Amino acid sequence: MLIRINTTQFLIVLALLLLLLFSSWRRLKPQEEVSAPTQTHVLILSSWRSGSTFAGQLFSQNPSVFYMMEPAKHVWHRLPWGSPELLQGPLRDLLRSVFLCDMGALLAYIEEPSMVYQLFMWPMSRALCSPPACEAFRRSDIIGVKECESRCGQTPFEKISEACATYSHVVVKAVRFFQMEALYPLLTDPSLHLRVIHLVRDPRAVYASRQAVSLHPDDLVIGNAVNGTPSTLGVMHRVCRAQAEMYLTALHHMPPALRGRYLLTRYEDLVRDPLEHLAKWYQFTGLTSSHRLESWVYNITHWSTADSDQKPGISSVDPLEIQKNAKVASQAWRKHLSFQEVQDVQSICKEAMEVFGYKPAASEEEQRDLTKDLVLPRGKN
Ligand SMILES: *[C@@H]1O[C@H](CO)[C@@H](O)[C@H](O)[C@H]1NC(C)=O
Repeated sequence: MLIRINTTQFLIVLALLLLLLFSSWRRLKPQEEVSAPTQTHVLILSSWRSGSTFAGQLFSQNPSVFYMMEPAKHVWHRLPWGSPELLQGPLRDLLRSVFLCDMGALLAYIEEPSMVYQLFMWPMSRALCSPPACEAFRRSDIIGVKECESRCGQTPFEKISEACATYSHVVVKAVRFFQMEALYPLLTDPSLHLRVIHLVRDPRAVYASRQAVSLHPDDLVIGNAVNGTPSTLGVMHRVCRAQAEMYLTALHHMPPALRGRYLLTRYEDLVRDPLEHLAKWYQFTGLTSSHRLESWVYNITHWSTADSDQKPGISSVDPLEIQKNAKVASQAWRKHLSFQEVQDVQSICKEAMEVFGYKPAASEEEQRDLTKDLVLPRGKN
C-alpha cells in the first residue's frame, strides 16, 4: 500500500527526524568530553619485601587518603598460569578502575564478593575502617590493623566504592609491575592524575628477607616465565632487572609530558629519616601532614624505653611493629647471609646495585663491619 504525503507533511517529518538526531547527539556529547580528574592518584610502585607495606601506611593513615593495598594480588591469584608480563595488562586495567573508585572491576577476580573482608589485607586501609565504610572509628583516627579487623570486616562490598569517592587522594601499592611501559596508558589517561613513587631496596636485604618468608604462589607466576619454579636467586634476577629497567626507563625514556610524575626512593633512606621522606612524598602528591601523624610516624619508627627489651621478630603479627627496628633490620642481611650468598646476589643483581647506589661488599670482613656504609649517597634524581 502506498502512503501519500504532501510537502508540508514531509517537511514536518523531516524536522522531527532532525530534532531527534540533534537531541541524541547533544546527549552523547558530554560523555565524550572527559572532565578533569578531581582526585589525585598515587601508585607506590615496588617489589616484594621492599618496605612498601610501611610506605603504604604513611599514606593510608592520612585522613585525605583512600588506600588500597595490592589489588593486583587478586589478579595473580586468579590467573596463576599467567606470567608477570602477561598479567600486566589486566593488572593495569584493574588499577585504573580502582583509581576511579570503580571497585566493580574486582568482581572478575574475587569470587562472590559480598563483604569487605574478602579484600586482601583490607584492614591496612584506614579508609575502610572509618565512615562511610565503617562507623567504629572516626575518619581522623589513626587506626590499628587489629582493632579495625575485629570491627569492620562485615562492611558490604559496595561500600568500598562509596567510601573511595569521598577522598581527595586514592593511593594504591603494587609490587607486580615489571615494565614502566605498562603504566604509560595510565600516565597519559586524561581521567587520571597520576603520581608514581618507586620504592626500591638493597637486593641483599630483599634476598635475606625472602629466605624468612615464603612467597609461594607468587613465585609460581614468575616461574611461568622461566618454565619451572625458580630458585630464590632466579626470582631475584628477574625482580632486580625489572626494578633497574623501570628506573632507567623513567629516567631516560619517559615522554616529556610525563616527567615530574615519578619519584625514586630507597628504603634505606626512608628508614634513616622517615619524617623527611613523609614531607617529600606529601609535597610530591599534594597532601598535608599533621603534628599527630608525624608523632605517630615517629612512634612507630623508634623503640621507646618501655619496649627496648622486646626482640624484633620477623614473624610479628602487626606488620608495623617491624618498622620499630627498621634501621637495624635494614642491616640484618650483613649478619645473616654468608659471604657466598652475598656474592651471588651481588653478581645476579649487579645492574640494580649500580643504578641504585648499593656498594658491593668486597670481602666478608667488609660485609660484617657495620661501620662501613654499603649504601652510597644518592644525588637528586
Ligand atoms: C606517641 O607516643 C607518645 C609517648 O608514648 C604518646 O604520648 C603519643 O600520644 C603518641 N602519638 C601518637 C600519635 O600515637
